[in-house]
Amino acid sequence: MEDKRLAVYAGSFDPITNGHLDLLDRGLKIFDKIIIAVAENPAKKPLLTLAERLELIRASLANHPDSHSIQVDSFKGLLVDYIQRTGAVAILRGLRAVSDFEYEFQMALMNRKLSRKPETLYLMTGARWIYISSRIIKEVVQAGGSVTGLVPEVVESKLREKFGK
Ligand code: PNS
Repeated sequence: MEDKRLAVYAGSFDPITNGHLDLLDRGLKIFDKIIIAVAENPAKKPLLTLAERLELIRASLANHPDSHSIQVDSFKGLLVDYIQRTGAVAILRGLRAVSDFEYEFQMALMNRKLSRKPETLYLMTGARWIYISSRIIKEVVQAGGSVTGLVPEVVESKLREKFGK
């Protein structure tokens, strides 16, 4: 039977940030269970391999109080096909600022065109994290800056290792 309160939080997570973790916590107030689904997305040329991204998410969630409600997975191909296989009722995404809107609107409408089934639900990222993105985090570490407090420690260490900093 379909799980009424299952959502898929999909993304590249290259890497996971505290903004993502905040959004997950918000989502868990609404859904019984959330699958964090990492898109392989080779077209996006991620810095981290799929295995590394999954490992960092798992490590970041190691002491999460609701770990029984969170699953970490990956998918290839269309998100709506993956959603169908899981029986989830919603796609969870975060919105930071107006600049996110256009891309998110396009994606939500394309997903709806591909499948009428899942609803895309947007939650506002916590104000503390409004300015951070995986992209800007990578840029700062690559340039030798600190991202302490913005990403889990394991993520910062991994990025430093990758960039030789
Ligand atoms: O974290 P991101 O990079 O903004 O996440 C984007 C993601 C992975 C959710 C999106 O690119 C996606 O769903 N990719 C899978 C392919 C797909 O279904 N594309 C059609 C929807 S636009």
